[in-house]
Amino acid sequence: MKVALGVTGGIAAYKAAELVRLLQDRGVRIQVVMTRAAQEFIRPLTFAALSGEKVITDLFGSGAEDPNIASAVEHIAVAQAIDALVVAPATADVIAKFAHGEANDFLTTLFLATTAPVVIAPAMNVNMWENAATQANLQTLKARGYAIVEPDSGYLACGMVGAGRLAANETIVKAVLKALGARQDLAGETVMVTAGPTREPIDPVRYIGNRSSGKMGYALAEAALRRGAKVILISGPTALTPPSSAEVVQVQTAQQMRDAVMAHLDHATIVIKAAAVADFTVRAAAAEKIKRKGPMTLELEPTTDILAEVGAKKGGRIVIGFAAETSDALANARKKLESKSLDAIVLNDVSQPGIGFDSERNAVTILTHSGSETVPETSKWEVAHRVLDAVVKLKAERKKSTQSLRS
Ligand code: PMT
Repeated sequence: MKVALGVTGGIAAYKAAELVRLLQDRGVRIQVVMTRAAQEFIRPLTFAALSGEKVITDLFGSGAEDPNIASAVEHIAVAQAIDALVVAPATADVIAKFAHGEANDFLTTLFLATTAPVVIAPAMNVNMWENAATQANLQTLKARGYAIVEPDSGYLACGMVGAGRLAANETIVKAVLKALGARQDLAGETVMVTAGPTREPIDPVRYIGNRSSGKMGYALAEAALRRGAKVILISGPTALTPPSSAEVVQVQTAQQMRDAVMAHLDHATIVIKAAAVADFTVRAAAAEKIKRKGPMTLELEPTTDILAEVGAKKGGRIVIGFAAETSDALANARKKLESKSLDAIVLNDVSQPGIGFDSERNAVTILTHSGSETVPETSKWEVAHRVLDAVVKLKAERKKSTQSLRS
């Protein structure tokens, strides 16, 4: 999810730097847009370093020689690309411009051009805040459906006491997440996700692997973070960048994945195993590169079934497996659901073209002990959310049955 953060020219502009971090921790990508006045208070470099993206200022064309500043001309598509716009701090001036539809810099133009939800967090001197013109402008914006995060009261930078201090960053984050429609239904949970393939060495340069890209597992990790969970991501080798706020353990082999899962299991309340773990490993990998000569035979032995081991030790956890099947998909998945003591299994019929391994898309059936739900072909991101919906439902069912046992 991508949010544009508009920073305007007030002393509270420095607080927007922390806001970048807090939103990133929730898995949100940030595009900072600064007004000319904001740059008098804090430099674009700070936001470029924090957000990892060039900052959009009011500069058109020639200013883009600065590596930290992007030309607004190149970013005219921002209005369509963002999922929300948050303006923090918002000065009385920008609020007036928003209310009156002025579009004389990049931020005000973006405000008019975007159809994404907008969150405005004002900060100003108490008299400016209480001025009838400011209040009328705010009423106009509220009536048009824009979210206003009311400022706090207290000592203001101008030396006066009263309303006008930028609301706490956590309050602004909540308003942004609400605007994004982000659910926080996994807050308090620690979700362990396994992702990607494993590699079983044959010799120092060759291995047995599979076509898993890690995309399904990484989507699950990111979706769980967005929904408020802590995430432990145990990843086989992939070309993907893990979400910055997940605890990430990189592994290569099935044995390493097993050891990492077991080492972190105590912390997890939910386990989702999307990894494509090798079922066999080479009994004795060669210490030197094997030379090419005649036919050769590799002796394989089964790896530990990590999911079955987790199922056997699951305690109060919710444990979800994936099943990649090419035939008798439903029957095989049900067998795994039962034999590995799982709460649910996500069936991936990988014989279908365009989904599953190394694709952006997937189509699955989520099987539980009480029924099944089909998720037709969609993005892995959407599939991840549907799997997490199933987790939330399972948790609620478990809570209900514990309560009815007690009463
Ligand atoms: O990574 P992508 O390119 O996005 O592709 C996603 C995916 C197709 C890999 C994913 O959606 C998927 O189906 N993952 C499970 C693949 C798999 O190994 O399925 P399986 O039926 O062989 O294994 C069943 C379950 O047991 C899986 O949860 C697996 O993680 C687990 N397992 C398997 C073997 C083993 N030794 N230990 C395990 O824990």
